[in-house]
Amino acid sequence: MSASITYDLTLLEQSLAKWRRSAALRAVYADIFAAMRRSMVPGRTLEIGSGIGVARDFLPDLVTSDIVATKFVDRAVSAYAIPPESWSNLVAFDVLHHLQEPLRFFASAAAALTPGGRIVLVEPAGTPGARCFYRLFHVEPCRPKLIEPPFKFAAEADGSFANMGMAHALFGRHRPAVELALRAFGLRIVSVAHRDLLAYPATGGFSQPALLPAAALRALLALERRLPQALLRKVALRMFVVLEKS
Ligand SMILES: C[S@@+](CC[C@H](N)C(=O)[O-])C[C@H]1O[C@@H](n2cnc3c(N)ncnc32)[C@H](O)[C@@H]1O
Repeated sequence: MSASITYDLTLLEQSLAKWRRSAALRAVYADIFAAMRRSMVPGRTLEIGSGIGVARDFLPDLVTSDIVATKFVDRAVSAYAIPPESWSNLVAFDVLHHLQEPLRFFASAAAALTPGGRIVLVEPAGTPGARCFYRLFHVEPCRPKLIEPPFKFAAEADGSFANMGMAHALFGRHRPAVELALRAFGLRIVSVAHRDLLAYPATGGFSQPALLPAAALRALLALERRLPQALLRKVALRMFVVLEKS
């Protein structure tokens, strides 16, 4: 299966307008990118599936990319054919759940990383709380039960593909099988954590107006950081996954 365009890139202009308008959205993303930076190792970083390239605001040295060349990114890079240019970090924010062959992405990422290099993924979570939330407020499906071996998924009739339950299933129910597959590529799981509860929805995301000002959201994020993982595993909206090449 070759890499098809599973995401509607015409949405990007709207996203950029909202990004520029919303200090609230930028405050929450700043917190997520700070966590990404803490998980990265020194060296060159490539972002896969950069969209409008907001990562550049927080990680100024990274190289942005997307499946096709757009005015927003530095290069066109498919998640399945990452150029082996000794990257120390590969980061991808909300991309894994659009990949029809997530294991092929990990194989390509492993081949492109230097030893000790990292893959840092931020993804929607498939917790019970997140499933309720996404069912009510998000158009893309969150169906972890459909994520089954051999982890190759068909696109919809219009060519799109999204299953926001992807990371939940791969790093939860299927973790032993996925760990084995990753080991064959020379990758190990460093950490799988949950984060984001109320602050992110209160930004209104890329489609709705913010419910709270940025300062209030920063305070809320500080509170959310203190929540135990045991609770977040039930209600959090996002997963934060770090892999390392051995
Ligand atoms: C939901 S958007 C996320 C954009 C950006 N990372 C953000 O968080 O704002 C998903 C992105 O993944 C990209 N993408 C989907 N499949 C891809 C593939 N096979 N290779 C590279 N990028 C891909 C899409 O083009 C899109 O830009």
